[in-house]
Amino acid sequence: MKVSILGCGYVGLVTGACLAEIGHEVTCTDNDLSKIQTLQQGALPIYEPHLDEIVARNTQSRRLTFTGDLGEAIRFGDAVFICVGTPPLEDGDADLSAIDNCARLIAAESRQPKLVIEKSTVPMQTGQKLKRALAIYSRNSGYRFTVASNPEFLREGTAVSDFLHPDRIVIGVDDEGAEAQLREIYRPIIERSLACPVHDGSCPPEQTPALVVTSINSAELIKHSCNSFLALKISYANLIADICENMGADVQEVVHAMGLDPRIGHDFLNPGLGFGGFCLPKDIQAFIRLGEKAGVDVGLLKDAESINKRRIDSFLAKVRQALWILKGKRVGILGLAFKPNTDDIRFAPAIEIIRKLQQERAQIQVYDPQAMEKTKPLFPSIRYCADAYEAADRADALLIVTEWPEFKGLDWQRVRELMLQPLVVDGRNLLDSAKMSELGFEYQGIGKPNADGLVPSLPVNQVTRLAAVERYQATNRVRPSSRPVAGL
Ligand code: UGA
Repeated sequence: MKVSILGCGYVGLVTGACLAEIGHEVTCTDNDLSKIQTLQQGALPIYEPHLDEIVARNTQSRRLTFTGDLGEAIRFGDAVFICVGTPPLEDGDADLSAIDNCARLIAAESRQPKLVIEKSTVPMQTGQKLKRALAIYSRNSGYRFTVASNPEFLREGTAVSDFLHPDRIVIGVDDEGAEAQLREIYRPIIERSLACPVHDGSCPPEQTPALVVTSINSAELIKHSCNSFLALKISYANLIADICENMGADVQEVVHAMGLDPRIGHDFLNPGLGFGGFCLPKDIQAFIRLGEKAGVDVGLLKDAESINKRRIDSFLAKVRQALWILKGKRVGILGLAFKPNTDDIRFAPAIEIIRKLQQERAQIQVYDPQAMEKTKPLFPSIRYCADAYEAADRADALLIVTEWPEFKGLDWQRVRELMLQPLVVDGRNLLDSAKMSELGFEYQGIGKPNADGLVPSLPVNQVTRLAAVERYQATNRVRPSSRPVAGL
């Protein structure tokens, strides 16, 4: 099938390249002409594992093309995927102006009826508005456009694999023709008849992906519900981490045991610096706005968001506690990307951390395997290092902000020798605290008891509470069936 892709960000590029890889003819466009030029010259504007080889192969075979001519791109496809950005407005609502602009262009440039598919993450009812906009903008041409919602569940860093091995494909339609076209587009993935470029022909055993056909409204809601649930799960893990820190337990032990319950699962229970990136933070905000408009109490989502916003401050409080004054101290930062295997720094914890450290006039030296070029324009005056060892060199503290696997494998003995003070604050629990202590580091992770196993100093009311807990436990050992005193 001939497919047009509007928007060459993560979703658009991966969708376009993967649809070409499974046999479709695809042309991609973007209103950022420099991005299109980069792609036409055979380079990629983003780092995403396996994407380069797929783009190279399919541009060579001419199944995948890039054009700066929006009209030409729109006329090319029988199906047009809208993959433009929906960034947050100041009030948290999603900015849908790029979607409206696509509707205008599709209506103006098409010379035949088309299936228009929203792949961008949009609030519920956007599809209905898109349908109406297309009908209004095309009233002179008379072409009829069908609209479908086909939310994307790929994660940056594993986007190609996620696209080609999805656990489900959600199709929101109100038209049988649209459903048939989308089934055809995804047929090689649904039937597992593709030659997978990620696993070299040895894909892990997997089930056929579920094809979920819903209304357009439901498909849109599924996407927001999923991302918000993932955000809730992360904030829940972070809440437990705070309890662990204040009461002397190890969050990794706790979430490990929790995750063994198949109803809970291990995924997205890693506490740390909270959720960043261009999806979870903006999607939970947009979902809160949507819920409010629907007249629903969204306190649960708001709490998850505010737990997330506090993560950076509580992380920096640890650094401040250990270093006392930050002014003039040399702080090494390992990791800038919002997560490993990407160069994306949008809403990355590192950005906020650097900004706050700069306010306190710390000297900052950073290293990230992929994200330094994208960070340089934001912070031109900090030091960008050639490797992790340089970021540790003469540092008073080393902060682990992104859990790149290569940081785990560093020669930590060498790192300790390079540092002025052997203080490591690990925002991702990447390292083994016992081993770090053995190597002579003062190591602080997330949700860990103190090295001496003692509960950190607590406000008086908490200490009183602890004593009460101990009293209760002692009594409870004698009378196992007795119930806790209310309010304890
Ligand atoms: C997320 C969703 O996971 C995808 O399913 C969805 O398709 C995508 O958004 C999207 O809407 O386009 P992504 O933003 O690539 O994918 O990243 P995630 O892997 O979800 O991580 C988001 C953030 O949560 C990262 O900052 C990560 O470090 C953090 N995180 C994740 C945790 O702090 N703890 C965890 O246990 C998991």
